Amino acid sequence: VEWTVKERSIISSIFSNLDYEDVGPKALCRCLIVYPWTQRHFSTFGNLYDAEAIKTNANIAAHGIKVLHGLDLAVKNMDNIKEAYTKLSTLHSEKLHVDPDNFKLLVDCLTIVVAAKMGSDFKPDVQATFQKFLAAVVSALGKQYH
Ligand code: HEM
Repeated sequence: VEWTVKERSIISSIFSNLDYEDVGPKALCRCLIVYPWTQRHFSTFGNLYDAEAIKTNANIAAHGIKVLHGLDLAVKNMDNIKEAYTKLSTLHSEKLHVDPDNFKLLVDCLTIVVAAKMGSDFKPDVQATFQKFLAAVVSALGKQYH
């Protein structure tokens, strides 16, 4: 993937202004609520009975923050995103058995949460760059599946 100077600056600006503690939990919660089959991977995380339970589940919130920090790998390695995710891809495939289609669902939820936070600053070129970035992450996370 090639990145223009403009795209690099958009990505670094999104992430330097990102409230991980707020956005991470919201994105993961939204994914679990909107796509309930993704809950199957979190059966050891406690109460996921309904949307309220998911949104107030501290284990889910903590994991949402962890996942969002997982994107730092891509921010720091924009020119070799695939290599940067080799370990995480293997983990999700061979150990966690997460269907790779779910990566796309989670990053779409993240896009919605970031858009809601940024409001009118989430201009079309910002969205296009953010989605290009997330698509590269999704592809890299799917790389070790076979
Ligand atoms: C663990 C990142 C998508 C399920 C993790 C970890 C990271 C991460 C950084 C911690 C790894 C470690 O402890 O070494 C990401 C990123 C994703 C993504 C960047 C997509 C953008 C998903 C999706 C699911 C999922 C879609 C399931 C629907 C899990 C589970 C764990 C995990 C079950 C282990 C949780 C635990 O038991 O502590 N992920 N993940 N991940 N991820 Fe993901």
